[in-house]
Amino acid sequence: MISTCIFDLDGVLVDTAKYHYLAWRKLASQLGFDFTERRNEALKGVSRMASLDILLSAGGMADRFTAAEKQEMAARKNGWYVDYVSRMTPDEILPGVVRFLEDVRRAGIKTALGSASRNAPLILERTGIAGYFDAVVDGGMVSTAKPDPQVFLMGAELTGAEPAACVVFEDAEAGIEAAARAGMRSVGVGTSKALSRATTIIPGFETFTVNELTQRLEQ
Ligand code: G6P
Ligand code: MG
Repeated sequence: MISTCIFDLDGVLVDTAKYHYLAWRKLASQLGFDFTERRNEALKGVSRMASLDILLSAGGMADRFTAAEKQEMAARKNGWYVDYVSRMTPDEILPGVVRFLEDVRRAGIKTALGSASRNAPLILERTGIAGYFDAVVDGGMVSTAKPDPQVFLMGAELTGAEPAACVVFEDAEAGIEAAARAGMRSVGVGTSKALSRATTIIPGFETFTVNELTQRLEQ
Protein backbone atom coordinates (compact mmCIF):
# COMPACT_ATOMS: atom_id res chain seq x y z
CA MET A 1 0.00 0.00 0.00
CA ILE A 2 1.19 3.53 -0.75
CA SER A 3 -0.06 6.38 1.44
CA THR A 4 2.34 9.17 0.42
CA CYS A 5 4.69 9.84 -2.48
CA ILE A 6 7.55 12.10 -1.40
CA PHE A 7 9.36 13.98 -4.15
CA ASP A 8 12.81 15.50 -4.17
CA LEU A 9 12.77 18.75 -6.16
CA ASP A 10 16.09 19.49 -7.88
CA GLY A 11 16.66 16.95 -10.66
CA VAL A 12 13.36 15.13 -10.10
CA LEU A 13 10.61 17.68 -10.74
CA VAL A 14 12.68 20.50 -12.24
CA ASP A 15 16.13 20.77 -13.76
CA THR A 16 17.69 23.32 -11.43
CA ALA A 17 21.03 21.49 -11.32
CA LYS A 18 22.19 23.63 -14.24
CA TYR A 19 21.55 26.82 -12.27
CA HIS A 20 23.31 25.49 -9.17
CA TYR A 21 26.24 24.60 -11.44
CA LEU A 22 26.38 28.02 -13.13
CA ALA A 23 26.36 29.78 -9.76
CA TRP A 24 29.02 27.52 -8.19
CA ARG A 25 31.18 27.86 -11.30
CA LYS A 26 30.97 31.64 -11.05
CA LEU A 27 32.14 31.49 -7.45
CA ALA A 28 35.00 29.15 -8.42
CA SER A 29 35.97 31.52 -11.19
CA GLN A 30 36.07 34.45 -8.74
CA LEU A 31 38.30 32.31 -6.51
CA GLY A 32 40.56 31.66 -9.49
CA PHE A 33 39.84 28.09 -10.53
CA ASP A 34 37.68 26.21 -13.02
CA PHE A 35 34.90 24.00 -11.64
CA THR A 36 34.06 21.28 -14.15
CA GLU A 37 30.62 19.83 -14.83
CA ARG A 38 31.93 16.38 -13.91
CA ARG A 39 32.97 17.58 -10.45
CA ASN A 40 29.57 19.23 -10.08
CA GLU A 41 27.93 15.76 -9.99
CA ALA A 42 29.15 15.40 -6.39
CA LEU A 43 27.03 18.38 -5.32
CA LYS A 44 23.68 16.86 -6.27
CA GLY A 45 21.42 16.46 -3.27
CA VAL A 46 24.09 17.91 -0.97
CA SER A 47 23.34 20.89 1.29
CA ARG A 48 24.60 24.38 0.48
CA MET A 49 27.44 24.53 3.01
CA ALA A 50 28.54 20.95 2.32
CA SER A 51 28.54 21.81 -1.41
CA LEU A 52 30.82 24.77 -0.71
CA ASP A 53 33.28 22.52 1.13
CA ILE A 54 33.36 20.10 -1.83
CA LEU A 55 33.88 23.02 -4.23
CA LEU A 56 36.73 24.47 -2.16
CA SER A 57 38.40 21.04 -1.96
CA ALA A 58 38.13 20.72 -5.74
CA GLY A 59 39.95 24.05 -6.03
CA GLY A 60 42.62 22.98 -3.53
CA MET A 61 41.32 25.55 -1.05
CA ALA A 62 39.92 23.42 1.75
CA ASP A 63 40.56 24.91 5.22
CA ARG A 64 41.70 28.23 3.81
CA PHE A 65 38.70 30.26 4.93
CA THR A 66 37.00 31.19 8.19
CA ALA A 67 33.41 30.19 8.91
CA ALA A 68 32.33 33.80 8.33
CA GLU A 69 34.11 33.92 4.95
CA LYS A 70 32.43 30.68 3.96
CA GLN A 71 29.01 32.04 4.93
CA GLU A 72 29.67 35.06 2.73
CA MET A 73 30.73 32.88 -0.23
CA ALA A 74 27.65 30.66 0.13
CA ALA A 75 25.45 33.77 0.28
CA ARG A 76 27.14 35.15 -2.86
CA LYS A 77 26.50 31.87 -4.72
CA ASN A 78 22.91 31.81 -3.50
CA GLY A 79 22.32 35.36 -4.74
CA TRP A 80 23.23 34.31 -8.30
CA TYR A 81 21.21 31.11 -7.96
CA VAL A 82 18.13 33.03 -6.79
CA ASP A 83 18.53 35.37 -9.79
CA TYR A 84 18.31 32.31 -12.08
CA VAL A 85 15.41 30.54 -10.38
CA SER A 86 13.42 33.77 -10.01
CA ARG A 87 13.18 33.75 -13.79
CA MET A 88 11.98 30.13 -14.04
CA THR A 89 8.65 29.35 -15.71
CA PRO A 90 6.31 26.33 -15.78
CA ASP A 91 8.08 25.30 -19.03
CA GLU A 92 10.96 24.10 -16.88
CA ILE A 93 8.99 21.37 -15.12
CA LEU A 94 10.42 18.06 -16.32
CA PRO A 95 8.36 16.04 -18.86
CA GLY A 96 5.47 14.01 -17.43
CA VAL A 97 5.80 15.43 -13.91
CA VAL A 98 2.48 17.30 -13.76
CA ARG A 99 0.57 14.39 -15.29
CA PHE A 100 2.14 11.98 -12.80
CA LEU A 101 1.37 14.26 -9.82
CA GLU A 102 -2.25 14.41 -10.99
CA ASP A 103 -2.31 10.62 -11.36
CA VAL A 104 -0.98 10.18 -7.80
CA ARG A 105 -3.58 12.49 -6.30
CA ARG A 106 -6.38 10.90 -8.32
CA ALA A 107 -5.35 7.55 -6.84
CA GLY A 108 -5.98 8.97 -3.34
CA ILE A 109 -2.26 9.03 -2.50
CA LYS A 110 -0.89 12.07 -0.64
CA THR A 111 2.02 14.07 -2.03
CA ALA A 112 4.90 15.70 -0.17
CA LEU A 113 7.97 17.60 -1.23
CA GLY A 114 11.19 16.58 0.52
CA SER A 115 13.93 18.93 -0.62
CA ALA A 116 17.29 19.96 0.83
CA SER A 117 16.87 23.36 -0.81
CA ARG A 118 15.98 26.48 1.14
CA ASN A 119 14.82 27.88 -2.20
CA ALA A 120 12.21 25.14 -2.73
CA PRO A 121 9.17 27.37 -1.96
CA LEU A 122 10.36 29.98 -4.50
CA ILE A 123 10.90 27.32 -7.19
CA LEU A 124 7.48 25.73 -6.55
CA GLU A 125 5.87 29.12 -6.84
CA ARG A 126 7.74 30.16 -10.01
CA THR A 127 6.95 26.88 -11.79
CA GLY A 128 3.33 26.87 -10.60
CA ILE A 129 3.33 23.41 -8.98
CA ALA A 130 2.99 24.42 -5.30
CA GLY A 131 -0.69 23.44 -5.33
CA TYR A 132 0.09 19.78 -6.08
CA PHE A 133 1.57 19.10 -2.64
CA ASP A 134 -0.19 18.22 0.60
CA ALA A 135 3.01 19.01 2.52
CA VAL A 136 6.26 20.81 1.73
CA VAL A 137 9.47 20.12 3.64
CA ASP A 138 12.40 22.28 2.54
CA GLY A 139 16.00 22.84 3.60
CA GLY A 140 14.97 25.58 6.01
CA MET A 141 12.85 23.19 8.08
CA VAL A 142 15.38 20.47 8.84
CA SER A 143 18.47 20.45 11.04
CA THR A 144 20.29 17.61 9.30
CA ALA A 145 20.75 17.11 5.58
CA LYS A 146 20.35 13.98 3.42
CA PRO A 147 21.52 11.19 3.79
CA ASP A 148 19.93 11.82 7.18
CA PRO A 149 16.28 10.70 6.88
CA GLN A 150 14.80 13.74 8.71
CA VAL A 151 13.46 15.50 5.61
CA PHE A 152 11.49 12.42 4.49
CA LEU A 153 10.30 11.47 8.00
CA MET A 154 8.83 14.97 8.32
CA GLY A 155 7.04 14.52 4.99
CA ALA A 156 5.54 11.26 6.26
CA GLU A 157 4.46 12.83 9.52
CA LEU A 158 2.92 15.91 7.91
CA THR A 159 0.82 13.69 5.64
CA GLY A 160 -0.09 11.23 8.39
CA ALA A 161 1.67 8.26 6.78
CA GLU A 162 3.82 5.46 8.18
CA PRO A 163 7.32 5.43 6.66
CA ALA A 164 6.74 1.91 5.28
CA ALA A 165 3.80 3.29 3.30
CA CYS A 166 5.86 6.10 1.72
CA VAL A 167 7.70 6.06 -1.60
CA VAL A 168 10.51 8.55 -2.21
CA PHE A 169 11.44 9.85 -5.68
CA GLU A 170 15.10 10.87 -5.84
CA ASP A 171 17.87 11.59 -8.34
CA ALA A 172 20.79 11.64 -5.88
CA GLU A 173 22.60 8.92 -3.99
CA ALA A 174 22.32 10.85 -0.70
CA GLY A 175 18.54 10.92 -1.16
CA ILE A 176 18.23 7.19 -1.91
CA GLU A 177 20.20 6.50 1.24
CA ALA A 178 18.04 8.91 3.26
CA ALA A 179 14.94 7.04 2.06
CA ALA A 180 16.45 3.69 3.08
CA ARG A 181 17.36 5.06 6.51
CA ALA A 182 13.80 6.36 6.88
CA GLY A 183 12.48 2.85 6.22
CA MET A 184 10.92 3.95 2.92
CA ARG A 185 10.99 2.48 -0.56
CA SER A 186 12.50 4.61 -3.29
CA VAL A 187 12.30 5.28 -7.00
CA GLY A 188 15.59 6.43 -8.50
CA VAL A 189 14.91 8.99 -11.23
CA GLY A 190 17.55 9.17 -13.95
CA THR A 191 20.32 7.06 -15.39
CA SER A 192 23.10 7.59 -12.86
CA LYS A 193 24.86 4.48 -11.54
CA ALA A 194 24.60 6.06 -8.10
CA LEU A 195 20.91 5.12 -8.05
CA SER A 196 21.50 1.36 -7.99
CA ARG A 197 20.37 1.07 -4.37
CA ALA A 198 16.89 2.39 -5.13
CA THR A 199 13.96 -0.03 -4.93
CA THR A 200 13.31 0.62 -8.62
CA ILE A 201 14.68 3.04 -11.25
CA ILE A 202 12.91 5.06 -13.95
CA PRO A 203 14.54 7.32 -16.57
CA GLY A 204 11.90 10.01 -16.00
CA PHE A 205 8.14 10.47 -15.58
CA GLU A 206 7.19 10.68 -19.26
CA THR A 207 5.27 7.42 -19.47
CA PHE A 208 5.19 6.52 -15.78
CA THR A 209 1.89 5.84 -13.98
CA VAL A 210 0.72 4.95 -10.47
CA ASN A 211 -0.30 1.57 -11.89
CA GLU A 212 3.23 0.86 -12.99
CA LEU A 213 4.60 2.12 -9.68
CA THR A 214 2.37 -0.30 -7.78
CA GLN A 215 3.34 -3.20 -10.05
CA ARG A 216 7.05 -2.52 -9.68
CA LEU A 217 6.84 -2.32 -5.90
CA GLU A 218 4.96 -5.62 -5.74
CA GLN A 219 7.71 -7.49 -7.60
C1 G6P B 1 19.35 20.26 -3.46
C2 G6P B 1 20.33 20.32 -4.61
C3 G6P B 1 21.71 20.69 -4.12
C4 G6P B 1 21.65 21.97 -3.28
C5 G6P B 1 20.71 21.79 -2.11
C6 G6P B 1 20.57 23.05 -1.27
O1 G6P B 1 19.60 19.13 -2.72
O2 G6P B 1 20.39 19.07 -5.28
O3 G6P B 1 22.54 20.87 -5.25
O4 G6P B 1 22.93 22.32 -2.82
O5 G6P B 1 19.43 21.43 -2.60
O6 G6P B 1 19.93 24.04 -2.03
P1 G6P B 1 19.86 25.59 -1.67
O7 G6P B 1 18.92 26.15 -2.69
O8 G6P B 1 19.29 25.68 -0.28
O9 G6P B 1 21.23 26.14 -1.75
MG1 MG C 1 17.83 16.10 -6.33
